[in-house]
Amino acid sequence: MNYKNIVLIGYMGSGKSTVAKLLSEDLSIGLTDLDDFIERSEKSTITDIFKNKGEIYFRKQEHKYLQQLLNFDKNMILSVGGGTPCYSGNIDLINKLATSVYLRSSVQNLFNRLIKEKSERPLIAHIADKDLKEFIAKHLFERKSYYEKADLIVDTDDKTPQEIVIELKSLI
Ligand code: S3P
Repeated sequence: MNYKNIVLIGYMGSGKSTVAKLLSEDLSIGLTDLDDFIERSEKSTITDIFKNKGEIYFRKQEHKYLQQLLNFDKNMILSVGGGTPCYSGNIDLINKLATSVYLRSSVQNLFNRLIKEKSERPLIAHIADKDLKEFIAKHLFERKSYYEKADLIVDTDDKTPQEIVIELKSLI
C-alpha cells in the first residue's frame, strides 16, 4: 500500500469522522479532523466561529489550516468538513498532496442522519425539519462536482463503517 495522506471528503453526515477513526486504527496511522484542528487552533467551536466571525472568515481559516496540515504531515488520515473541498481550490490542493476519498451517500441517508444532528451544524441548524431534505438535495447538487474530483469514490449506503473501511483498504 502506498501511503501518503488520505483525506476523507463528503457531505455533512456521510460518516467521514467514524470511517476516518476506524481506518486510522486499522492502518495504525495518525488521525486528524480538520474541524477539531480549527477549533483547537482558534480556541472556539465551529458554531461560535460561524456566529461571531461569519462563514467567510471560517472558510479562510479552513483553507489556511488545511494547507498547514497537508504540508506538515505526509502520513495521516485526515477527515475534513463537508464544505472544505468546495472552497479556495481546496480539492485541487488535497488531490495534489494526498489521496482523496469521497464517501458518497444518498440524500435520504444524509437526511436520516442529519435530522438527528442538525443543531451541531451551523449551516443547517436553522432549517426547518420539513425543509431539510430538499435543502440537502440542492446543496449536495451544488457540491457534487467538487466531491467527484476525488481520487476514489466509495458508496456508503447500506454499508457499516467496518464494511466501508474494508472496501476503502482494497482501493488504496
Ligand atoms: C460544513 C461542515 C461541517 C463544518 C462546518 C461547515 C459544511 O463539517 O466544517 O459546519 O460546509 O458542510 P462536517 O461535514 O464534519 O459536519
